[in-house]
Amino acid sequence: MSNAAINYANEHRRQYLTEMEALLSIPSISAQSEHIPDMEKAARWIADRLTDAGIENVAIVPTAGHPLVYGDWLHAEGAPTVLIYGHYDVQPVDPIDLWDTPPFEPTIRDDYIYARGATDDKGQMFAHIAAVDAMLNADGKLPVNVKFLLEGEEEVGSKNLEDFIAGHADLLKTDCALISDSHIISPTQPLAAYGLRGLVILELEVRSAARDMHSGQYGGVVHNPLTALVHILAKMHNENGTVQIPGFYDDVLPVSAEEHEMMAKLPDHILEETGAKKLWGEKEFNVHERTGARPTFEIHGIVGGYTGEGSKTVIHAHAFAKLSMRLVPNQDPEKVIEQFKAYVADITPDTVDVEIRTYDRAPASLVDRHDPAIVAMSQAYEESFGNPPLFAREGGSIPVVLLFQQYLGIPVALMGIGLADDNLHAPNERFYLPNFYHGIEASIRFMNIYAAQK
Ligand code: BES
Ligand code: MN
Ligand code: MN
Repeated sequence: MSNAAINYANEHRRQYLTEMEALLSIPSISAQSEHIPDMEKAARWIADRLTDAGIENVAIVPTAGHPLVYGDWLHAEGAPTVLIYGHYDVQPVDPIDLWDTPPFEPTIRDDYIYARGATDDKGQMFAHIAAVDAMLNADGKLPVNVKFLLEGEEEVGSKNLEDFIAGHADLLKTDCALISDSHIISPTQPLAAYGLRGLVILELEVRSAARDMHSGQYGGVVHNPLTALVHILAKMHNENGTVQIPGFYDDVLPVSAEEHEMMAKLPDHILEETGAKKLWGEKEFNVHERTGARPTFEIHGIVGGYTGEGSKTVIHAHAFAKLSMRLVPNQDPEKVIEQFKAYVADITPDTVDVEIRTYDRAPASLVDRHDPAIVAMSQAYEESFGNPPLFAREGGSIPVVLLFQQYLGIPVALMGIGLADDNLHAPNERFYLPNFYHGIEASIRFMNIYAAQK
């Protein structure tokens, strides 16, 4: 392969950084309707940038929600086609007070760029746009055919993407998908993610009376919905951290002995990364099994009662909790929801009524570690980051991965270039700039290696 594109990318680092800053300045928060114009602005920015790079057939595709951006370059005759996926939407920014600099005013400190979306996923996504730009500028061509599919609804469950993929399977049918939306172990130790967890997001509401009540008048005779709620939630785990929903683990694909050994050897820095007091959870599984191959149940928030200044002796009429479950292969989100509903019905006392509302859902995914796309990714990682990757299953979810597998039957290479402590979804999200530059290089190398291999 010619090194011209890599040289070009390295010589244009400052330009690519400045462009990334422009993209990061657009507050493309998909969850908040006040940002709909910003979503359109971000889609337009990306479409224009793809066009400038020499990508053809660039289109902003409206959906029932936020638009998709599509573009392709199909002049590598006889070469394979790579589908590059990324998402330009970001998570909400609150608590805003905890940001050291404003989330949509990208700021560089100590080799990191700080901004919402810096690593998840605008920065990682832009590395591929920069890679293609460098190749087309330096060589006037790409070693593979490329199709970009960049969406604006990943952080809200990719609700409208399934319809688009199902309706455009011929267009999107490619040899493999390439996604950078996960993290590696350190700047010199890449990590090839070969699995992602799925999830279901739920809300549980408990109601005991028609109105709020004085706790002296009614305490002891009307069931406090907050008490009922915490009793229900306390029954979700046993002391070992094992989820108690009947049937929850029935379909869980067991980890093979080989995978178990491999996971046991992987480093983890969870205590350092989080400042947690001690590790918790299913003792019979190692840390990477627990985060990658075991399903979990989480409470994200409990809302109810009085939490303002001073005291208020009230029994609120209702209480609710925001919940989610991370799923693993081969759990079916719908079946897990039914199991949860049945368990809640079973453990709810007859003094209260409950209502369960469901939100986003996505099944887990697993890719074949020996697929040519993963082999090409491993080599690209090694040549760009200095070491061959370790392999692990990731705990997070990217709903599109299973959609690509199901509708297009293609392998997915998860070539993440973030770091675990990049603060994704949290205040002071950041992206390590050397990873950005090495990621551009890895993208260029991936396409060359994949083309040569096929
Ligand atoms: N990029 C993340 C997923 C991720 C995080 C993969 C860490 C690997 C390591 C993605 O943007 C994300 O946050 N997904 C959501 C799912 C969505 C349906 C809300 C998630 O995992 O909570
Ligand atoms: Mn992401
Ligand atoms: Mn995310």
